[in-house]
Amino acid sequence: MSESASVVKTEPDVRVLFSPAQIAARVQEMGLEIARELDGTRPVFVSVLKGACMFQCDLARATPLDVELDFLAVASYGSAKTSSGNVRLIHDLRVDIGGRHVVVCEGVVDSGLTLSFLLDMFRVRNPASLRVATLLDKVPCRKIEVPVDYAGWKIGNEFVVGYGMDAGERFRNLPYVGVLQEA
Ligand code: PRP
Repeated sequence: MSESASVVKTEPDVRVLFSPAQIAARVQEMGLEIARELDGTRPVFVSVLKGACMFQCDLARATPLDVELDFLAVASYGSAKTSSGNVRLIHDLRVDIGGRHVVVCEGVVDSGLTLSFLLDMFRVRNPASLRVATLLDKVPCRKIEVPVDYAGWKIGNEFVVGYGMDAGERFRNLPYVGVLQEA
């Protein structure tokens, strides 16, 4: 590779909250807990793109069951750092979740508005059960009550990036979760 084509990698100014090793250990625990509760079933792990992508895939790998994966996408209009609650479905699940055990995977539950929208939509499809797993639960930020069955960690009002979560579409591929330091 020529010098001009070489990759310049700069370290982002991010304070690490949870290291890759901490995340791996916690996700492993969560996966085993879900496997115990859903033993003998073939659950569907669903996530809303894009923030939960890493968590969903790692959680599925940590769950020793025959797990099916599916994805949906929503558009949420608000500022870059907060959700407005005006959530609109732009890409639905492919799988019929009727009669299935569903685990909704989230990277972070903040106001709860996205999750509330999803759960309302899923409930009318008559799943056998509906559970929520999130890596991070920003409990103090809740605007609407939502059930969270499995939470990796409860955190405060921090704007987190990494491990799937972004700031302006950057930092999703950081292997850790951190807080972006203001310049
Ligand atoms: C994030 C996150 C959740 C949602 C939670 O998604 O992935 O889906 O916000 O916020 P809430 O509880 O206040 O609704 P975001 O809208 O940033 O899109 P992204 O997943 O594509 O990053």
